[in-house]
This record gives sequence, structure tokens and C-alpha cells, in this order.
Amino acid sequence: MSERAAGNFPADEPTANASGSEVDEVLPNPARIYDYGLGGSRNFAGDREAFHKLLEVDPDARTVVRSNRAFLRRAVRSCLERGIGQFLDLGSGVPTVGNVHEAAREMNPGAHVVYVDDEPVAAAHTRRLLADQPNAGIVEEDLRAPDAVLGAAETRRLLDFSQPVALVMASVLHWVGDDVGQLLARYREALVPGSALVISHLTDEDLHEQMRQVEAIFDETSAPVTYRRRSRAAELFAGFDIVDPGVVYCSEWRAEPHESLAEPERTKIWAAVGVKR
Ligand SMILES: C[S@@+](CC[C@H](N)C(=O)[O-])C[C@H]1O[C@@H](n2cnc3c(N)ncnc32)[C@H](O)[C@@H]1O
Repeated sequence: MSERAAGNFPADEPTANASGSEVDEVLPNPARIYDYGLGGSRNFAGDREAFHKLLEVDPDARTVVRSNRAFLRRAVRSCLERGIGQFLDLGSGVPTVGNVHEAAREMNPGAHVVYVDDEPVAAAHTRRLLADQPNAGIVEEDLRAPDAVLGAAETRRLLDFSQPVALVMASVLHWVGDDVGQLLARYREALVPGSALVISHLTDEDLHEQMRQVEAIFDETSAPVTYRRRSRAAELFAGFDIVDPGVVYCSEWRAEPHESLAEPERTKIWAAVGVKR
């Protein structure tokens, strides 16, 4: 029996994406693999199997996703401390505990958040979660279509681009293999000085062999992975000044003592925050 038929999913869970193609429940998908890794319930058997394969080659796989998520919360707080109260979260994922609007609301109840994800299960779950949240919305769109994202009704309703906005790309650019430089340039030109760019990104630089095996697992999913090393950060942050502590493993980025790992490279994800000049 399928998981939908077994009633494991809400009846209104989408069976098709925004362009009308059917949701593929068999092919593992990074949004749902990540959701499972974080302990969420919006995933199918194939997604869970893929995560267990990841655990076999990388016993730290749960630490990887949790460390990234913890970085995201700290980065959001740092943007709020700078007085930025608007967030455009590209590749926002299936909402779990500690989403950007929740982290933001703790410090600024008036913060505005637009989530963007092209995975229909993630988008539907976000929509449901935000039903009673006037200051947050979801755009179901491919982030590689910046004009569609920036021009979407929810983006225009919730974000004022004449004021600083934090552009968040947490654990998503490694699913984008295209010319990310041009893509980032298009988003950058929509932002005023004082806006922020938050990036966390998978890398293979310290654990080369293990990451080849991780890559092979993602080759069997809907989205192969593209690693980018810390040395590429300057290029991704063109036009932004990277703030302290610079480009570090995500568990090291302004970590609170209980969060730091003995060996930060085990998170396999570097992170940085920049402020637009
Ligand atoms: C690993 S999750 C990260 C979720 C969240 N940003 C976080 O850091 O906790 C990556 C998300 O990016 C989304 N994604 C990947 N490629 C995308 C694209 N081209 N357009 C929109 N979303 C994308 C996936 O669907 C997935 O939900």
C-alpha cells in the first residue's frame, strides 16, 4: 500500500508540482531526505532509504543536517541584530523546528519572511504551516528563475526591496550546478546596501573519499550534488563584505559552546554571512 493510501500523509498533500508534473514518490529527493535526517515526517520510503545509505558512508549525517540548521538560526539572529527584518529564504525546505520565521519572530515579531522551494511536498507543508501567519509566505518556484521569484505576488506583498533584505541560501547551492555567479548577481542587484547574504554549502575538501561516496548516493536522487570549496566563497560573495568569523565550517560560525563539534570538518558544510556594500 502506498504511504498516501495508508493515510501517512495529509489528504491535501500535493500529487503534482506547480507545473503540473506528478510528484515522484519513488525517486529520492533532497528536500525529503533532509527532512527525514532532521526527524521530520514529510518523506517517502525512498527518501528514508537514501538517508540510511548516507549514514552508512557517513555516520555523522544527522550531525551534518542539524549543524546546518543550527547555523541557519544563528545567522538569522545575526541579521536581526543588524536591524534586518526581511528574509528571502531560497531553497527553504520542508519546515521543521526552528524555521526562519520562527527564529526571526523571537527577536522581531514584525519580521517578514518569504520562503522559496520548488519541491511540492515542501511547499505544501510550508503553505499549511503559514496559513495563520500574515508576515510570512511561500513561493513555489525554481530559485534559478530569479525574475519569477522576485516578481512573485508573495514576494512583492511581503518584501520591500528599498530596505535591506537578508537573502538566505542555506544548504541549497550545492543542488545548483549552473553558473551560480550570474544567478547570484541577479539577486544581488535587487538588494540595497546593508542587505545580507547567508550561504552554507557542502564541500569535499577535507574528507575527499567519503564525499565521493556521498556524491554517488545523490547521483541516484532527483538532484545530483555539486561541491564547492571554501576558496569559492569570495566569488559567491562578490559585492558583499564577509563578516566575522569569515568562511568557516557551519558549526564554527558564531557557535554557542554546546554546539561546537570537536572536528568541524565533519559537518562537511562551510558557512558565511556577507553584508552588501
Ligand atoms: C537541504 S534542504 C535545505 C533546507 C533549508 N534551507 C535548511 O538549510 O535547513 C535544500 C532545499 O532546497 C530546495 N531546492 C533545491 N534546488 C532548488 C531549486 N532549484 N529551486 C528551489 N528550491 C530548490 C530543495 O527542494 C530542498 O528543500
